[in-house]
Amino acid sequence: MRYASITDRLASLGSEKWEIHIEARRRKSKGEPIIELTIGEPDMPPHESLLAEATRAMHAGRYRYSNGRGEPPVVEALVRKYKKRRADVTSANVLCFPGTQTALFAVMLGLVEKGDAVLVGDPLYATYEGVIRATGADQVTVPLRAENGFHMQAADLERAITQECRVLLLNTPHNPTGAVLTAAEIAAIGEVCRKHDLWIVCDEVYEELVFAGGFVSPFDNPDLAERTIVCSSISKSHAAPGFRSGWAIGPEEFTSRLLSVSETMLFGVQPFIADMTAFALDNPIDTSARMRTSYKGRADRIVASLAEAPGLLPLPPEAGMFIVVDVSGTGMNGEEFAWALLNEEQVAVMPGASFGEGAADFVRISLTVPEGQIDEACRRMSALAARSGLKKEKRA
Ligand SMILES: Cc1ncc(COP(=O)(O)O)c(C=O)c1O
Repeated sequence: MRYASITDRLASLGSEKWEIHIEARRRKSKGEPIIELTIGEPDMPPHESLLAEATRAMHAGRYRYSNGRGEPPVVEALVRKYKKRRADVTSANVLCFPGTQTALFAVMLGLVEKGDAVLVGDPLYATYEGVIRATGADQVTVPLRAENGFHMQAADLERAITQECRVLLLNTPHNPTGAVLTAAEIAAIGEVCRKHDLWIVCDEVYEELVFAGGFVSPFDNPDLAERTIVCSSISKSHAAPGFRSGWAIGPEEFTSRLLSVSETMLFGVQPFIADMTAFALDNPIDTSARMRTSYKGRADRIVASLAEAPGLLPLPPEAGMFIVVDVSGTGMNGEEFAWALLNEEQVAVMPGASFGEGAADFVRISLTVPEGQIDEACRRMSALAARSGLKKEKRA
């Protein structure tokens, strides 16, 4: 039978990237005591009041069809949230989606197609290449350099731009590196985007998980309002990834054009989840503050614990749920190290290659497991690193 080319374009960009995670889960289900440090699934539940609100809404009959833009209570809550950042935001700027991922997919579909190209920093979040290639557009990478703390530099962006480029897909705070762009960097990047008439699609799903200092976004700059679209959700901020509740906020013309894409694709989102999301956005809930403290503490713990490990260089994050470790000093790349760690030490981490060529020498460790497991995982990583150091010496 014949299939559309999208299935070829995405063939190796889906679950292949999560192969180690899937294999670790398979082994776990057979009883192997694997320490799983792969995906960014918060280890605390959503606040009890969110569950109560979703239940209340369901019992109140909020399970009927919705509309394409989003249920009025959540749209209004989003307007209140984003008005704090830019005074001109109205409900005409809001579109609701089941999570950031779907928002990114639909937004990209509305902005680019075959013949176009999308700029994105490398390292990059594992699904971005698929999101870009699904549209038929090409991906153009901008190197994010360790010496700049993985912060995108305007000069690197400008150097990468080709005639086909229409969009910069920006991610701050960044997954996997935890980099948080500064106001000066955002201003310089915004200037380049204005000069080359690029859209800026900004994935801000980790906005609430910045460890120190503020969060800055191109969305906050009125001069960039006509070209900036924010995608985000309550997945990380409220430890609620399974609720699949997110949004895109962008210029009015953009949302009105995208509405039919969204309606065709989704036929609305779930009203009881929309009510719960409105409640989450409107009420002071301490989940993100607790996660910030916890994840920063665990990142520091890993840095301290691996300080003496031969060939391992942890790169401390500024935000988020992960830390990357450069393993090239062991003589292995991230992929080789991650498989050896799973096979020999029963610890599952993500190979950097799942996050682009720029992360090939790294592994990504999730900070969403308790300290005891983190300590034990570090001990096992150090043991593997020490053995590979010996192997290297023997080979030399
Ligand atoms: C950078 C980034 N964007 C988007 C997502 C997906 O978020 P959501 O659950 O809102 O779809 C993730 C999830 O890990 C992520 O790390």
